[in-house]
Amino acid sequence: MTTQDTELLYLPSDLQKDLLPQHVAVIMDGNGRWAKRQGLPRIMGHKRGVDALKDLLRCCQDWGIKALTAYAFSTENWKRPQEEVEFLMSLFQRVLRQELREMVEENVQIQFVGNLEALPTALQAEISYSMAETKNNQSIKFTVATNYGGRQEILQACRAIAHKVQDGILKPEDISEELFASHLYTAGIADPDLLIRTSGEMRLSNFLLWQMAYGEIYITDTLWPDFDRREFHRALCAYQQRERRFGKV
Ligand code: FPP
Repeated sequence: MTTQDTELLYLPSDLQKDLLPQHVAVIMDGNGRWAKRQGLPRIMGHKRGVDALKDLLRCCQDWGIKALTAYAFSTENWKRPQEEVEFLMSLFQRVLRQELREMVEENVQIQFVGNLEALPTALQAEISYSMAETKNNQSIKFTVATNYGGRQEILQACRAIAHKVQDGILKPEDISEELFASHLYTAGIADPDLLIRTSGEMRLSNFLLWQMAYGEIYITDTLWPDFDRREFHRALCAYQQRERRFGKV
């Protein structure tokens, strides 16, 4: 948190507590561009990106937001240069190890969604450990999408349901929205109310395709490492101006 942000330690008075989103999701874009602008290697952007994410998690707790989901690594991100992929994998592992104690103390429940089996074994072990250690925590649900792709998530849900129909466990007419959602990686996690994307790109990039059916989208030109409480405050003000109709008039 910067010194300027300390004035935003508590919920700003222009935000209405009962109109806050319950669940905020973020596409943390622009780390590479941020680093380039500073004349630094791309990986420095990811390191600063971790700080921005930690600040946002803390801010959600301070302001009473109950769930935060961050897109850390997409199924397409494997196509990046090998050294960047390796750096990101070791960064996830290191950050998890360093932050676990604080997450336990702060009552944060961390969970990971995505095709986790394809991640390095040591990272998988760190993920399982951190999820087990925090599973009963209740102050905030912090979900990290890692090796996540929305289409792949939908396909694996379809396959799982098809097998159950084939085995006679389910009938085709049993397939409802609720049943389908319970086969997604995000089973048990409410849909996001607000998705924030940094660095000005106006697309979902295969993130939470099913879950974002009615979620509000907020896009800012700010690059992810510069996304701070002030920016989050702006996003929440914009969200509170929106009229959510869920298809009704
Ligand atoms: C996108 O920016 C960012 C990523 C692919 C990585 C995001 C990951 C973190 C911030 C680390 C999170 C850590 C944990 C433990 C959850 P980009 O590289 O695509 O930026 P660019 O579009 O400017 O190149």
